[in-house]
Amino acid sequence: MRLLPLEDASELPRGWTDAQGPGRYRLSREGDATFDGWVVGPDSLKQTLFPSREVLYQAERREDGKLGFAPVAPAPSPKAFLGVRACDLAAARVQRSILEGGPHRDARHARRSEDTLVVAVHCTEPGALCFCASTETGPRVTEGADLALAERGEELLVEAHTDAGRAILDALDTREASDADEAWLDDAMVASAGKMGRHMRTEGLPAALFGRLDHPRWDEVADRCLACGNCTSVCPTCFCTTTTDDSDLDGSRGERERLWASCFDEDHAYIHGGTFRPTTKDRYRQWLTHKVGGWVSQTGTSGCVGCGRCIAWCPVGIDLTEEIDALWDGEGSAVLPPPRVTPDHAHEDLVPREATVRSVTRESADVVTLRLDAAPAFAPGQFSQLALPGIGEVPISIAGDEGGLEHTIRAVGATTTALCAITAGQQVGFRGPYGRGWPLAELAGAPVVVIAGGIGLAPLRAAIRHMLADRARFPEVHLVYGARTPDDVLYGEELARWEGAGLKLHVTVDQAPPEWTGNVGVVTRLLDRGSVPEGASAMMCGPEIMMVHAAQALGALGVDDAHTWLTMERHMECATGSCGRCQYGPFFVCTDGPVFSLDQVRFLFGREGF
Ligand SMILES: Cc1cc2nc3c(=O)[nH]c(=O)nc-3n(C[C@H](O)[C@H](O)[C@H](O)COP(=O)(O)OP(=O)(O)OC[C@H]3O[C@@H](n4cnc5c(N)ncnc54)[C@H](O)[C@@H]3O)c2cc1C
Ligand code: SF4
Ligand code: SF4
Ligand code: SF4
Ligand code: FES
Repeated sequence: MRLLPLEDASELPRGWTDAQGPGRYRLSREGDATFDGWVVGPDSLKQTLFPSREVLYQAERREDGKLGFAPVAPAPSPKAFLGVRACDLAAARVQRSILEGGPHRDARHARRSEDTLVVAVHCTEPGALCFCASTETGPRVTEGADLALAERGEELLVEAHTDAGRAILDALDTREASDADEAWLDDAMVASAGKMGRHMRTEGLPAALFGRLDHPRWDEVADRCLACGNCTSVCPTCFCTTTTDDSDLDGSRGERERLWASCFDEDHAYIHGGTFRPTTKDRYRQWLTHKVGGWVSQTGTSGCVGCGRCIAWCPVGIDLTEEIDALWDGEGSAVLPPPRVTPDHAHEDLVPREATVRSVTRESADVVTLRLDAAPAFAPGQFSQLALPGIGEVPISIAGDEGGLEHTIRAVGATTTALCAITAGQQVGFRGPYGRGWPLAELAGAPVVVIAGGIGLAPLRAAIRHMLADRARFPEVHLVYGARTPDDVLYGEELARWEGAGLKLHVTVDQAPPEWTGNVGVVTRLLDRGSVPEGASAMMCGPEIMMVHAAQALGALGVDDAHTWLTMERHMECATGSCGRCQYGPFFVCTDGPVFSLDQVRFLFGREGF
């Protein structure tokens, strides 16, 4: 059963029913001539409100290095949907809470939602895979529709829920519904809830799932799962996306397109150098812990509305209700963050604006600092999205604002290499600032130890400057910094100035030439009472393995998790909490982080697969 344009009422699927089971979906003719003898097919409102591919913007690169970015807005296209079920209306609300209810508002999704009229159906005959009664998202249509219908013999019981719905009802030849009609509907809804083929135990589920990350069931389901991603495609709430940047042959015009993605995709958790979720077990666990776990912390509701699609369209018939039952049969509980408070909307179309490069400083063989003429207020630890048309867009920390907004970039892949090759006067695309910065106000008054590995010094630089400019509140600041070789040490002259201003500097390198007289070895070897004074707080950024070891060393020196702050790195596309790619358990690194306290993330920190 597909959601397709109708030419006239004769095309309605009258007299058809769908028999569903794990990995099974069959249509057949019913004996009677009802319109709503089927439940849900693979399609949902998602395909229309949130198309599987759409162009975000077009970009132009002129010969003088200047750029132009132009948003591409969807053309108005009002649509009416017939036969939508309560679960799918709930799914549209769940998607809206991510795409429009976060810190940024997807204007494309908002426009399409506003252009929609919905004629919904109260489900009186649920399917074998339905469990919307347990997720409290059906079978009765309570919100989100203009009209809600129930078929009662030859008659339709119709409720108007909006002015648009009332206008339609007024234009029809109807009789007033009687008390008996309404009592029939109440009874039918109770009966429908009792007939559902599946049930999901939801109370306390997020804490239970995140407390059972080592349950043997994850291995068992991974043996069956093909990592095909069908479940995420048909799920009406899944919202993950990726982007591609195309350009014409001479690179003068390009466009950025957004496409649906899945946490079963190999590159979903990719960052330069590898992926955080290499195995099918990691990916299935991501899917289930996000869908019915982390989602609750993100939006206040589960990401599952009980439609059963993922069970029907899974080629090997994996049934999430069965998996959850098996996981319940275990022990463990995690404390998850409460649903986040939604900040005010900042209207956002994911389109960069042009920023001119004022100057370029070479920091090492593969690292440069670009100063841009953009001048937004920022907090140390926040980051920007820097874009080059036809190449890509990357998150880069704001490293300071002396002589322009500074970004220190290491060339590792296509976009960072192109950014490192840019010259003064040329332009880049800029969006930001994004994310939460270092909690400098909380750190004031006590010694602070800053731990950085490699390019990880860049997100800490503005914070160090801030602290050294305010010695009364930050009387003792240590920097423990590790680089690959002496030539890779960043900000050489500035490090000397910082020392002159009172910073206690501890530097080490992985490899050194014979003339190097300093420390050689990993950063953690420098963490002792000399660099971590009694009562210190810590801030750190670097490769995750470095931070895991540093956290252990800090703990041994008496720095507790609430006084240890770190910045996390995960794959990023949108930076606005809407592409799903930077998820770290219940967190979006882009909006809940990138700076976290260790006690926020302790239950996942250093764990493989997240
Ligand atoms: C919050 C944050 C701040 C960062 N700050 C800096 C910085 O100040 N300086 C710096 O040199 N690097 C920084 N990075 C890392 C930088 O974003 C990656 O090196 C960059 O995305 C690699 O892109 P690429 O196209 O060159 O490489 P590719 O390997 O081709 O990457 C392709 C795409 O994958 C994604 N991706 C790859 N690696 C990362 C990554 N590490 N983090 C997030 N997405 C990634 C991006 O969308 C990228 O466009 C930061 C990352 C994060 C998450
Ligand atoms: S997880 Fe499965 S049952 Fe739940 S909303 Fe998605 S497709 Fe439907
Ligand atoms: S991470 Fe969540 S929203 Fe994204 S595809 Fe997986 S289950 Fe769906
Ligand atoms: S659970 Fe099923 S549909 Fe989902 S990825 Fe695995 S095999 Fe594919
Ligand atoms: S949700 Fe898109 S980068 Fe965080």
